This record gives sequence, structure tokens and C-alpha cells, in this order.
Amino acid sequence: MIRFGVIGAGRIAQTFSTALQKMGGNLYAIASRDFEKAQSYQKQYGYTKAYGSYEMMLEDPLVDCVYIATPHGLHYTHMMLALDYGKHILCEKSFTLNAQQAQAVFKKAKLNNLFVMEAMWTKYLPVIMETKKWIDQKIIGDLQSMEVSFGFDAEHRRGSRLFDPAMGGGALLDIGVYVITCAIDFLGIPKEVKSTVELDPSHGFDLKEDIHFTYEQTSAHLKCSLLEKLENVARIQGSKGSVEIIDFWKAEHAIFYNLKHEIIHEIKIPHTINGFEYQIQGVISSIEDHRFESPVITHQSTLDVLKIMDQLRQSWGLTFPNETL
Ligand SMILES: NC(=O)c1ccc[n+]([C@@H]2O[C@H](COP(=O)([O-])OP(=O)(O)OC[C@H]3O[C@@H](n4cnc5c(N)ncnc54)[C@H](OP(=O)(O)O)[C@@H]3O)[C@@H](O)[C@H]2O)c1
Repeated sequence: MIRFGVIGAGRIAQTFSTALQKMGGNLYAIASRDFEKAQSYQKQYGYTKAYGSYEMMLEDPLVDCVYIATPHGLHYTHMMLALDYGKHILCEKSFTLNAQQAQAVFKKAKLNNLFVMEAMWTKYLPVIMETKKWIDQKIIGDLQSMEVSFGFDAEHRRGSRLFDPAMGGGALLDIGVYVITCAIDFLGIPKEVKSTVELDPSHGFDLKEDIHFTYEQTSAHLKCSLLEKLENVARIQGSKGSVEIIDFWKAEHAIFYNLKHEIIHEIKIPHTINGFEYQIQGVISSIEDHRFESPVITHQSTLDVLKIMDQLRQSWGLTFPNETL
């Protein structure tokens, strides 16, 4: 059984730990900069080992795969370190600060025959996969346009990684990554990208943005915001009808309509645990099959999204303090 080690005992490490525990997976080690915090996660989730330093955990030869649950600004450093110790990797989104960092990680992983995957869990959700199949079968005809939004009021989290430029803070890398991934997943890579952005007046990071993708036959309008709750729906219009994926990033429900807006089909698949189980199973199967890349979240799919985020930030004049290699 793949023995997982977790780097960073924060919020998302809890979601991962809950899923792995309920799946009956091997919760081998948890590492925090604070040993007491690691011990409290160990007690809560049943990790075999607790470490007070990330490097000490990486030195443990029994760790097979590392789940990196630190802020995006640290992913590159933590992945390169984990690869030095010969570990397979599941790394939280956004995978790195930019495409260049991701390319370096993938290159090093390939050289060392190690598995690496971005934890873009949405792509593994059964509702997303089923919706794609129905779209491919032309239930809504030829695709014409798409709208995707993801926003929440993050004001109460001022002072957290979300608003820290050194950690890759801002809306784009935290939630923009979902709307862009979703549009690319359904429509492909756009021919043209345009956007408007609201930057934080004192720190320069992005608080909200409107992004327009243009394709040969279709278009997509994407919105994300750390200032307000948005609809958080992905809606695709086709020549024969439309589909709405409710809370698309953690999708459990999609509704298909005809042109009269009558429901013609619904997909409802509640998570068996919390939604992370599907991507975790994907990691386990890939490693057991000796694959170095997931067939669902490919290295290329991670790079495609990062390249668009690079392009957007370049047009906004937005760089992160530590984004050089
Ligand atoms: N898939 C999803 O649905 C989802 C949801 C939320 C977040 N995420 C992703 O998961 C990552 C972590 O997010 P989170 O919300 O869990 O963050 P968080 O609660 O702030 O936890 C991040 C952890 O990283 C460690 N860390 C190491 N150096 C740090 C530093 N300089 N500043 C802050 N933390 C540092 C800390 O762990 P120790 O103190 O234990 O060392 C901290 O608890 C992000 O990349 C985010 O995009 C994904």
C-alpha cells in the first residue's frame, strides 16, 4: 500500500487526511514546522509518524508519496526537495507560481522516474467526467459559449496566505486556476485571452478578474473574486440546449436543459467522502501501475493552465516576489 507523507498541517491537509483515513489508505507520516501540531494531526487522523520538520520526514525511507499542502509560493521549493529524496508527489493547486517552475519540476521528476500530479481534484470528480461524456454525445449539440464563476468573500482571511504576495496570494492562483482549468477542460486552449482586473491598491495582488477566452467557434467568460460570493456555476450553451454544473469546482450535480429550458437530463453523484477520494485513488492507481503521470491530470494540462495565468499576470504587470527559479 502506498505510504503517504503530508507536508504542512494546514486546512487542506485536514481534507486530505479525512479522505485517506476513510478510504482505508496508509496515513504514514505528517510533517509540520511545529512538532506539536504534527502530533495533534497524528492523534486526530492516526498517522504512524509525526515530524517537526519537512526535511526530517523526507529523510524517512518509508514515505512513498508526499502530499504537498503548503501555500502555492512554496510548492516549487517543496517539490524539488521531495524529488531530491526520491518521493512521488501529489501537490496542491496552483501547482507552482509559473509555468517555468512547473517545467523544471516535471523535468526533474521524469529524470528520476517519479510520479508527480497537481491536486486539481475537480478533474477527477465523477460528475465532471460524466458531463463530458454527455457533451461528447452531443446532448446539447455543438458548443457555443461558456460562463464560469468562482468567488467568495475572503475579507475575514486578510493576513492569511490568500493575501500574501510571497505565498502566491490573490484570486488568480487560488480560484482563477479552477475557472481556467474548467474552461480548458471543456473547450480547449483559447486562441485569444483578454481580461480586466482589480488589483489591491497597497499590495498589488489581484482581488478579482473577468477573463474572456475566444475560440474559432466558441467563447468563454470567466470570473473570479476574493471580494464577493459569485454564482460558482459552470454553464455551457450549445446549439440544442445547455448544461449547468452547480458548484462546479466540487461538483456533485449537473443539469442539462433543452432550448426551452426544460430539464432533459440530470447527473447527481454525491461524494463518497469529501471529493478528494477520487484524485487520491488516481494517485494510488498511477503509482501502482508504474506511471509517472496521471492520465486525468496530465503534466501538459497543468502547464496549459499555468501558461495562461502567466500571460494574464504579465498583462496586469503582476509578479510574485519569489517566482524566479
Ligand atoms: N483542493 C482544494 O479544494 C483546496 C482548498 C484549499 C486550499 N488548497 C490549496 O492548498 C494549499 C494550502 O492551502 P491551505 O488553505 O491549507 O493553507 P493553510 O491553512 O495556510 O496551510 C498551509 C500550511 O503550509 C505550511 N507552511 C509552511 N510555510 C508556511 C508559510 N511561510 N506560511 C504559511 N504556511 C506555511 C503550514 O503548515 P505547518 O505550520 O504545519 O508547517 C500551514 O499550515 C494552497 O496551495 C491552496 O491553493 C486547495
